Amino acid sequence: MTDEIRAQFEQARSEGLERIGEATDLASLEEARIRVLGRKSPLSQARSNLGRLSEDDRKTIGQLANDVQQVLAEALDERRKAFGEVELQQRWEEERIDVTLPGTEFPVAPSHPLTRTINEILDIFVGLGYEVAEGPEVEYSRYNFDALNTPPEHPARSPIDTFFIEGSDEKVCLRTQTSPMQIRYMESSPPPVYVVVPGRVYRRETLDATHLDVFTQIEGLAIDVGISMADLKGTLQAFANQVFGKNLDIRFRPHYFPFTEPSAELDVQCFKCRGAGCSFCKQEGWIEVLGCGMVDPFLYEWIGANGNTDSIRDEYSSGRYTGFAFGMGVERIASLAYGVNDIRYFWENDLRFLDQFHGALV
Ligand code: DAH
Repeated sequence: MTDEIRAQFEQARSEGLERIGEATDLASLEEARIRVLGRKSPLSQARSNLGRLSEDDRKTIGQLANDVQQVLAEALDERRKAFGEVELQQRWEEERIDVTLPGTEFPVAPSHPLTRTINEILDIFVGLGYEVAEGPEVEYSRYNFDALNTPPEHPARSPIDTFFIEGSDEKVCLRTQTSPMQIRYMESSPPPVYVVVPGRVYRRETLDATHLDVFTQIEGLAIDVGISMADLKGTLQAFANQVFGKNLDIRFRPHYFPFTEPSAELDVQCFKCRGAGCSFCKQEGWIEVLGCGMVDPFLYEWIGANGNTDSIRDEYSSGRYTGFAFGMGVERIASLAYGVNDIRYFWENDLRFLDQFHGALV
């Protein structure tokens, strides 16, 4: 009886060690542990037989039971450590980070063609010494119209053309042009003034290839002693050279704007046919680019009455200053420069369109 039970323990030990030896990783080692030391293990079964032994034998065999238990537990421990180290090593390998490697390259989208066009145009004027300023898109009619010599009965002030803010009694609107920034700028800064103003403007339009109800303008204003229309022309020639390429003629075509006198539209010689006439310029040889003119005395008078400080009011109404202004549609310039035949593309955010613009305007 005693020998039989002793043999059971010895078998539990040898089989147990074998099982433990067969484990290949932490998971199979845990299975081996249950089979070797668990409630249903040969060791537990052998232990349940201890009660059948005499007291003396139980002592010796009990000692053997404890030894077997300890041997197996130690064997498990040892292998657990070994597997643990292997797995840790593997994780270190797998999750290794080389902090000296260059970072993952994320695709950087090129700027939107309108943004590029705005930046390029602003750069031209900054190069000529202009400052860049921005104004509010929700604007007082006082700035958008009144101060710009546009009386209440002017057709542009009809709610058919302009988005007025509800409940404002038509005193507040979405600006229809960046020109109100001429007033805001002069109101708070004494001459000389050299400023360009990019921004969104809003009009009630029926959308088509050349009209949007939200679009972008860049306004320019220069006021100094002795400024003439020749300065306006020279400035716009420099602008046209950089946007459309050198050696294209420009011309002023008489026009009317309430806040300039005289007013003109600037045409640039068609850059496709150089003036010969083609389908692009509708056989005109010229392409209309922007509106401009000499600042109307009405504006100096308005600032003379409403400027922020005594000296600002005095300076502008002194009669010492003259100036010019211009305003252009960025979508129009971009579509001319990039050869896009429908300005709605600029606002649709279709990557197939946007991805085509990587180069400079010229
Ligand atoms: N604000 C005018 C428009 O939206 C464009 C314009 C014309 C601006 C002549 C000017 C200017 O500064 O002098 O149609």
